[in-house]
Amino acid sequence: MKIEKQICPSVLSADFSRLADEIRAVESAGSKILHLDVMDGHFVPNLTFGPIIVKAIRNLTNQVLEAHLMMTNPGDFLKQFRDAGADTILIHTETCPHIHRELAMIRDLGAKAGVVLNPGTPADILKTLLPHIDQVLFMSVNPGFGGQAFIPEVLEKIQNWASVLHDNDIIIEIDGGVNLSTIDQIKAAGVDYFVAGSAVFGNEDTNRAFRSLQSRLP
Ligand code: DX5
Ligand code: ZN
Repeated sequence: MKIEKQICPSVLSADFSRLADEIRAVESAGSKILHLDVMDGHFVPNLTFGPIIVKAIRNLTNQVLEAHLMMTNPGDFLKQFRDAGADTILIHTETCPHIHRELAMIRDLGAKAGVVLNPGTPADILKTLLPHIDQVLFMSVNPGFGGQAFIPEVLEKIQNWASVLHDNDIIIEIDGGVNLSTIDQIKAAGVDYFVAGSAVFGNEDTNRAFRSLQSRLP
């Protein structure tokens, strides 16, 4: 399977008072996948939004919506996020002791299923998950906030897994600290999807910021 490399703007850094404009700006710049950061104030030290906002965003755009659930109990909310319009649902291995159950639920709901690993989480767990996932998101910051510094040690973890994941048609995504200075080394590690928050929405010209990042991806 040939996977087209994509910048996935994270609305976490968008101006929520003009969310519709912000989303239109990246869509008109060519964005195909929008990354939605759901934070619960327990698993991560920050709060963002839930299914209501995902549903509102669904009504604003045709982009693929991926919900990154930074929550202690994602299993209780999978149906709500799917009903709200999430196309892909990403759950953290650190919060799911029965993760095959949640992954099966996501696929049963008709969404793509992905797992997320924090920077300090070993990737060995992936061995048991390969047939059950469509996507792996490697965090390159500790989740909770936009604008944090990229943790380069994560690249080795990705390199070690890139061929196994691609052989199994699994998309490799990275999240945290993606910008014009880090994107080339990340690309070299074999990443397909690049989540970018502050590097896109923290910029005065959102449309142009998206395009300059996307233009680095062949
Ligand atoms: C961090 C979130 C990210 C965040 C990335 O907890 O999961 O998606 O928006 O922000 P940047 O791109 O600014 O590092
Ligand atoms: Zn995220």
